[in-house]
Amino acid sequence: MNPIKSICCIGAGYVGGPTMAVIAQKNPQIKVTVVDINEQRIEAWNDEDLDKLPVYEPGLSEVIAEARGRNLFFSTEVNKAIEEAEMIFISVNTPTKTYGIGKGQAADLKFVELCARQIADVAKSDKIVVEKSTLPVRTAESIKRIFDATNGDVKFQILSNPEFLAEGTAIDDLHHADRILIGGDIETAEGNAAIEALVSVYESWIPRERIITTRVWSSELSKLTANAFLAQRISSINAVSALCEKTGADVDEVAHAIGKDSRIGSKFLKSSVGFGGSCFQKDILNLVYLCNHFGLPEVADYWEQVIILNDYQKHRFAKNIIDALFNTVSGKKISFLGWAFKKDTNDTRESAAIYVADELIQDKAQIHVYDPKVSAGQIKSDLLYLWTQRGLSPAEAEDLIDRSVTISSKPEEALSQSHAVAILTEWDEFKDYDWQGIYNNMLKPAFLFDGRNIINKEQLETIGFKVQSIGKG
Ligand code: UDX
Ligand code: UDX
Repeated sequence: MNPIKSICCIGAGYVGGPTMAVIAQKNPQIKVTVVDINEQRIEAWNDEDLDKLPVYEPGLSEVIAEARGRNLFFSTEVNKAIEEAEMIFISVNTPTKTYGIGKGQAADLKFVELCARQIADVAKSDKIVVEKSTLPVRTAESIKRIFDATNGDVKFQILSNPEFLAEGTAIDDLHHADRILIGGDIETAEGNAAIEALVSVYESWIPRERIITTRVWSSELSKLTANAFLAQRISSINAVSALCEKTGADVDEVAHAIGKDSRIGSKFLKSSVGFGGSCFQKDILNLVYLCNHFGLPEVADYWEQVIILNDYQKHRFAKNIIDALFNTVSGKKISFLGWAFKKDTNDTRESAAIYVADELIQDKAQIHVYDPKVSAGQIKSDLLYLWTQRGLSPAEAEDLIDRSVTISSKPEEALSQSHAVAILTEWDEFKDYDWQGIYNNMLKPAFLFDGRNIINKEQLETIGFKVQSIGKG
């Protein structure tokens, strides 16, 4: 097969945008067009001002500056880009279903199916279609059925190429990937040729020995399994954090001690207020649904416990705040430092902050939020979405936001005259704040709840704060 000269990616989100930017950066000979139905998003990707890119990632604007306009293009002309490309990545969102069969667990594949139908309708020449979105096992089979039924004249090869980048470190993860996984039809010559075509795209910067090729089903399942294992480690250490609080052990010391065992390893052992992000919960629920579907309820229950424990951890954090503040936060100002689901990203999907805020607001707290990268509009829309999903009308939800949430662009504003500070995201800048000054401006006793264990507990206690960290008795 001739080397690929033209790539299209459908979906210019947190995955599609950065991934295609790096593919274009490392393959100047390939024209890469990223398309999206969201015009505003495409406009933002094309903005002259690189601070306005729709995704915040350290190092991303440099990559965009190098490749955009040279061989990297962002567009809303989906059909044109499909027609031109030899290889098409599907990187649209696959949220958890909110209706019908599989509601609350299964992945909603309507966008993936729409993309497949559009590709089938538009394609006039042979295409390699790459699943970049995380998908349930055997989705490639369904996509193939759509192609076979719609467009008999054109040959399609379907590959699975899951993305393992973590937000906040996406560019570094893409530049120095531990591994690239490509699943395809390894039984046929055409399948192997398609796999090799994608291998050669990555080989421009990733050593061949780090590129793993497998059967499609293995590749699809590996992505779900990798996320489930990572999330399981966090739930395991968070389970231990609850025990530490009862026994006087220190969860960071326990994590350090066990992480030194090379069989366990030190990563993903940081106890926290709970994991968030668009992937962990969605992918585990999807795994749970698949296990039940295939008649494996014990396996389903095993993985579901990872989510149950994570919900418990978020709830425990909120409850600790209410308990410490004399069993009520009604009318009290609680300052939130951080809203993003982790540092160095403006992404808030499934962020623990949303659920902790919700519990405190049910208890009539006044929440004042400061986050260095998340916009006020995003914070409001997160709560609006949660509450309307739960049955409030949009007007009722908006009214509740107006009455109970204040968003500040300066930390001093969010912190002054408050009853308690809660750290929800581990932004580095929080460590360097003038905590003595903050203390002086708070109501006493001044409480601090560190949901990320980033501040020095002893130092702040010396200032006078009543500090509660995660997993420290
Ligand atoms: C998404 C999924 O969440 C994840 O499971 C998968 O692994 C990769 O794709 P992400 O990039 O973070 O991750 O999603 P998001 O930021 O929501 O971007 C998806 C984009 O697809 C949106 O910009 C949306 O407008 C676009 N889209 C969606 C289309 O262009 N066409 C569609 O039919 C549907
Ligand atoms: C994750 C996977 O890491 C990545 O490989 C996959 O492609 C997508 O899902 P992401 O969700 O972007 O990436 O970030 P990650 O760094 O995994 O963090 C997820 C959540 O876990 C965050 O809320 C983070 O704060 C939390 N976390 C992570 C912990 O609480 N403790 C840890 O030790 C690590």
